[in-house]
Amino acid sequence: MTRLLTMIRIGLLGCGTVGGGVVQLLRTNAASLEARMGAPFELVRVLVLDPSVVTLKELDRSCLTTDAERVIGDPSIDVVIEVMGGVDPTRDYVGRAIAAGKQVVTANKALLARHGAELLDRAHEHGVDMAFEAAVGGGIPIIRVVRDALAGDTISSLSGIVNGTSNYILSRMQADGMPFEAALKEAKEKGYAEANPTLDVGGGDAAHKLVVLAMLAFGARLDGVSILTEGIDAVEPVDHSFADRFGFVVKLLAIAKEHGKKLELRVHPTLVDKDAPLAGVHGVLNAIAIEGRALGPCFLSGRGAGAHPTAVSVVGDLVDVAIAKRNGTAGQRTRAIRLAKRELLPAEDIESRYYFRFSVFDRPGVLAKITGALGQRGVSIEQMVQQGRGSGDVPVDVVILTHESKEADVQAALDVIGKSDFVAKPPRMIRVHG
Ligand code: HSE
Repeated sequence: MTRLLTMIRIGLLGCGTVGGGVVQLLRTNAASLEARMGAPFELVRVLVLDPSVVTLKELDRSCLTTDAERVIGDPSIDVVIEVMGGVDPTRDYVGRAIAAGKQVVTANKALLARHGAELLDRAHEHGVDMAFEAAVGGGIPIIRVVRDALAGDTISSLSGIVNGTSNYILSRMQADGMPFEAALKEAKEKGYAEANPTLDVGGGDAAHKLVVLAMLAFGARLDGVSILTEGIDAVEPVDHSFADRFGFVVKLLAIAKEHGKKLELRVHPTLVDKDAPLAGVHGVLNAIAIEGRALGPCFLSGRGAGAHPTAVSVVGDLVDVAIAKRNGTAGQRTRAIRLAKRELLPAEDIESRYYFRFSVFDRPGVLAKITGALGQRGVSIEQMVQQGRGSGDVPVDVVILTHESKEADVQAALDVIGKSDFVAKPPRMIRVHG
């Protein structure tokens, strides 16, 4: 059924970086949006914690409220846009908006990683859409590609740079030799980092996004799963130099692969071949490389963080869900997302090539002990470098690249080497992509 909408009424939950970007885009592009929709978007109410701190000049201050019920419980509001972040009370607000029959747009990857399947079930039940393009890759239309454009294919794997802050920091460390803290400070000033930047540099934000991508790419019900997650905080400038010497760059990758019925999901710093498309993604840019069984490789890249790129995705979703509401097809697109339980591949079964950096005291026989411990576990060495010469208490770096090995074997060998009296500090391990 087609309903004549004389105006599309919007309620906004949150008005921080992304919310501000949405308000600005709705104002700047009002004419083109109205021409496309045949009716104007009207921002009716905006939920904020403290109206006194909202200074956005494009916003009519009479819209501001601190009472969520004035947004969710207002029957005149057609679309609720959630950009407040967090899981509580957001889960409740989004669930109630869905139950009230509203079309919902959310940018909240943490909420979706934890409760995405549950909220999608709820949206199915109430015949509404829940759209979430902005949850992954900022302005890159990756959700549409995986959900709609590749509907005729199945995906065997995907790898992505999905945290702009980490990529910014790694790029600055690699190209400009900038210290970690200074690069993080810059990323925060530019509005890329989360309120709690531990989520960025610790890999948690990328893990949330990976769960959302895997949910769509593999039809997997993954609410609250725990996946292997390592951040970039332990990567040192010397690792960038060694990576360069071996023909790699260091990137924080989110990786998903299908192994029969099992799914492999992991987020960690990764050595990426300098010639691979992902290696050329610098600064705050994000990128996702998809491998479709029929399509082959497909690569999308763009600005993955920041107010306006993310707001572009939110407003794109807003247009979609408003059109569905106008056309009487609300809920159809979301109903096409079918999820089933999938078992995860245990971390110890991961297979990869590995980079190790051992900081060792330079004594005769040390290399033999390291290679012996690796050999005993069947970890085969591809290349090895010792840089300089240690003396007395001053250790030296020995770096090893392995052939394809099993994570369980690598961890066991590292455990033995790490406990030896010739190592000055715990071994550094970085997995190699491919
Ligand atoms: N903090 C995130 C990032 C913002 O750096 O990518 C976008 O989710």
